[in-house]
Amino acid sequence: MFSKRFKQLTPYTPGEQPQNRKYIKLNTNENPFPPSPLIEEYLKTADTDLLKLYPDPGSDKLRKTIGKYYNLPASMVFTGNGSDEVLSFCFYAFFDSNNGPLLFPEHSYSFYPVYCGFYDIPFKRIPLKPDFSISVDSYIKEKNYSGIIFPNPNAPTGTYLQPSEIERLMRNTRKDRVVIIDEAYIDFGGESAVELVNQFDNLLIVQTFSKSRSLAGLRVGFAIGNDKLISALVTVKDSFNSYPLDTLAQNAARIAMEDIDHFEHNKARVIETREFTINELESLNWVILPSLANFIFIKKDNIRGKDIYEKLKEKGLLVRYFGHTGIEDFIRITIGKKEDMIVLINLLKTIGSN
Ligand SMILES: Cc1ncc(COP(=O)(O)O)c(C=O)c1O
Repeated sequence: MFSKRFKQLTPYTPGEQPQNRKYIKLNTNENPFPPSPLIEEYLKTADTDLLKLYPDPGSDKLRKTIGKYYNLPASMVFTGNGSDEVLSFCFYAFFDSNNGPLLFPEHSYSFYPVYCGFYDIPFKRIPLKPDFSISVDSYIKEKNYSGIIFPNPNAPTGTYLQPSEIERLMRNTRKDRVVIIDEAYIDFGGESAVELVNQFDNLLIVQTFSKSRSLAGLRVGFAIGNDKLISALVTVKDSFNSYPLDTLAQNAARIAMEDIDHFEHNKARVIETREFTINELESLNWVILPSLANFIFIKKDNIRGKDIYEKLKEKGLLVRYFGHTGIEDFIRITIGKKEDMIVLINLLKTIGSN
């Protein structure tokens, strides 16, 4: 009854979205602040008659708006139903079992191995440095691979590479392989490597509206790169679903991209709350990896990560626990509103002193 392909699937396990109890949710890196108020206005007055028609398959206006923000033509922008879909199309278009493994960090976004399973792409996990940062030199040393992908800042660690390091990676790796920098969290203090797409034809930057623009529920992501890479993504899209972005999502995302004041304000609030949380936890002797994301990755000596996760959950606060070897004592905490972080800090104070 089921295909061989289907039987081999290992799906991604997303962070819990519990419906039965009210938790303080610091587990899926959502933004605690609302999206641009202009979106509410738009949705309240949107012309529902438009929904009779199929949406613009090319999301042309949205791509133009994103291009304008980055000073690039729309032909260098691809949009999809969340960056997860964009990434999935990238894996299909650029990585292959004929060219060696896809390289990504040993601790990274757990959807990457899932897509590899889905598309039958071999992969190799590249160790992080002892301080958990990404080692560009380790990628440069590799000679046989079908591509490279990593988030910057990395997830779940939060560590960040400067664009100069991305440039060094691009200069010293194969020109016939695509390198994807997944910048889901770049807006929380990092500098995007997007300008490098003008220099390197094989570089693709992927971003999302889910985090810094508070639109995880809208499902909009995008990729920026050379026209040839973008056309390849369009070919994959049109072989799968020509209309991945609905009309409301295209329009609302455009509004979010244009409301720069709200975007800047939201970002600043998250960054400020992150720094507040880090200071408080450092004074309680927690180990916190340096983060330029909207989450922190923390641990404390002599307490198991799983125990921290479970104790917090018992008290009504959800964080993310991975349990993978090497990071089994860490938990990942999304930066929420300050009042939620104060609840967290107080709970960690008691957990940490037991
Ligand atoms: C590194 C990374 N990339 C991509 C995504 C996907 O985001 P979305 O599909 O909501 O755009 C996530 C989501 O948490 C992420 O952590």
